[in-house]
Amino acid sequence: MSSQIDHLLNEDRRFAPDGAFAADAVGTAELYEKASQDRVAFWGEQARELLHWHTPFTEVLDWTNPPFATWFGDGELNVAYNCLDRHVEAGNGDRVALLWEGEQGDERRVTYAELTDEVKRLANVLEGLGIGQGDRVAIYLPMIPEAIAAMLAVARIGAIHSVVFGGFSADGLRSRIDDAGAKLVITADGGYRKGKVSPLKPAVDMALADRNGSGVQESVEHVLVVRRGGNEVEWNDERDVWWHDVVPAASANHTAQPFPSENPLFILYTSGTTGKPKGILHTSGGYLTQATFTNRNVHDIHPETDIFWCTADIGWITGHTYVTYGPLANGATQVLYEGTPDTPHPGRWWEIVEKYGVTILYTAPTAIRSFMKIGRAIPAKFDLSSLRLLGSVGEPINPEAWMWYREIIGATTTPIVDTWWQTETGAIMISALPGVTETKPGSAQVPLPGISVDVVDENGAPVGDGNGGLLVITEPWPSMLRGIWGDPERYKETYWDKFAEQGYYFAGDGARLDEDGDVWLLGRVDDVMNVSGHRLSTTEIESALVGNEAVAEAAVVGASDETTGQAVAAFVIIKQSYLAAHSPDGLAQSLRAWVGEQIGPIARPRDVYIVEELPKTRSGKIMRRLLRDVAEGREVGDTTTLADTAVMSVISAQVR
Ligand code: PRX
Repeated sequence: MSSQIDHLLNEDRRFAPDGAFAADAVGTAELYEKASQDRVAFWGEQARELLHWHTPFTEVLDWTNPPFATWFGDGELNVAYNCLDRHVEAGNGDRVALLWEGEQGDERRVTYAELTDEVKRLANVLEGLGIGQGDRVAIYLPMIPEAIAAMLAVARIGAIHSVVFGGFSADGLRSRIDDAGAKLVITADGGYRKGKVSPLKPAVDMALADRNGSGVQESVEHVLVVRRGGNEVEWNDERDVWWHDVVPAASANHTAQPFPSENPLFILYTSGTTGKPKGILHTSGGYLTQATFTNRNVHDIHPETDIFWCTADIGWITGHTYVTYGPLANGATQVLYEGTPDTPHPGRWWEIVEKYGVTILYTAPTAIRSFMKIGRAIPAKFDLSSLRLLGSVGEPINPEAWMWYREIIGATTTPIVDTWWQTETGAIMISALPGVTETKPGSAQVPLPGISVDVVDENGAPVGDGNGGLLVITEPWPSMLRGIWGDPERYKETYWDKFAEQGYYFAGDGARLDEDGDVWLLGRVDDVMNVSGHRLSTTEIESALVGNEAVAEAAVVGASDETTGQAVAAFVIIKQSYLAAHSPDGLAQSLRAWVGEQIGPIARPRDVYIVEELPKTRSGKIMRRLLRDVAEGREVGDTTTLADTAVMSVISAQVR
């Protein structure tokens, strides 16, 4: 990490906000002033200004039982009403909410009035299927307008959605359905990915099959299926319902009922340091306040004129907050794209920017780096002059990629906001405000108004400007997670126990403060990897590997990768009987495929190294740091704490 720090320390390029941009920017310096006077009152004011409350709240924050927070506790609202009906009632029903583009080039424009109508019908259907407040609904859909409608209809009736990324396998889906005890699954026959139909319903069928004897009581009563891919699907008449049979026929009258501010809104599973993904729980009023506030001020949303495009899938937190909730609560118009960036050609994204006149683009560094690799000639073929703001999220953006983004995509004038946050934080926490902050390539910079962070040492003492340590959040924030589904102890342990004395939230990220006090993120300090902006747990992949009958032992590390940030590198010890019968290449191939099936293609290791031993300390702990050295092709570091110091030279030789 030290070479990375040195490199960052030498970064001295600065970009002041453009005068015209600043003059028209939504977020101003006044926000910092107000928030610094009274942080809690500031959030109360935002919640009142940005949202419609059926019942106004009288108390902003109750933090008497930390780490369990209550925001706007006695207030009541309806999240879907805030995202839909109120815009229609204000006379903006004809405004386009979604400019949807299918991978095949098919398109749909959905206005706020149309989306409201669809969500009302669907809410009636859900209630007809027995779903009510507090019930869990799993959503396993491609990026189609129905996915947004599904989330909002669940929210509208006070139920809880658990969106599962379409790239997760049947096993991944099953464990999420079981953990949440979902009563309904909303899926599609399939969606388009890389020019082909990628089936989804068959994975749902598999996830729900063969429960007999597993000891798990089946919670799912129905599966609601959208026709999208047109692929053949099996049908269970008792359980399965076609969307097109029930939604258009349902009544479009549905009154949004108020729910308490702390009514759970969704569970979203993310990888932690153990093998079991954790269900991060978010609730309504606080989450929607910060989602709306950050989208408005960081993305500088002018709902009447902007065309916003966040490229994230709704299966991730970025898609929840900046595809579904933030932009719709703000009444913005956005692009929704079903497919992959390079199908059918490598300029697909830029073609979409040109076609719809996208003004604000929010994407991940990994995408930017892969565009850099293909070269500037591709984006140069398209008119990108509509872009006026660029955003980055999900992993540290290296200054080279930042500069390329600004120069090639942003015509050297467009401001960039590098936004740090997490599934757990619910919304952006650290970022420049594009009309206020002088930006620095590679630094996420400053906490937003109303947010307090610090960088501390192992004991919780502030490291001060110019030093590195651990990133903490020092005060509660509206969109903070409220817990881990079904596991309050794990919530405390994971995030709050480390700095219990100070009452800080431990983010799991290393960070450094520069001489100006700006934050530079340095990556995870735990066993969580970040591959293409997706969070993966080393332990989860290790347990998938040892679940394969050929594998005796496995260790997984995140090795740095030019395009994906980190890549999964697996070191496995194969059982003797298998070694004799199979070629190492064949074994490596089949293990890669195995992990893909067990967890999903994103978790597939880039490298599988077959080794005879793993480096362990005398107490039996695997020294991943040394394996990372090997996977990154470096000189192996200090091996003196190994039980057997010769092991590393054997491994290095084998890998070579
Ligand atoms: O390590 C940080 C990194 O992504 C982690 C959170 O991952 P996830 O919950 O999947 O949410 C990603 C989208 C918000 C963080 O702990 N991370 C996220 N944004 C940045 C980042 N690292 C550096 N710079 C960022 N802007």
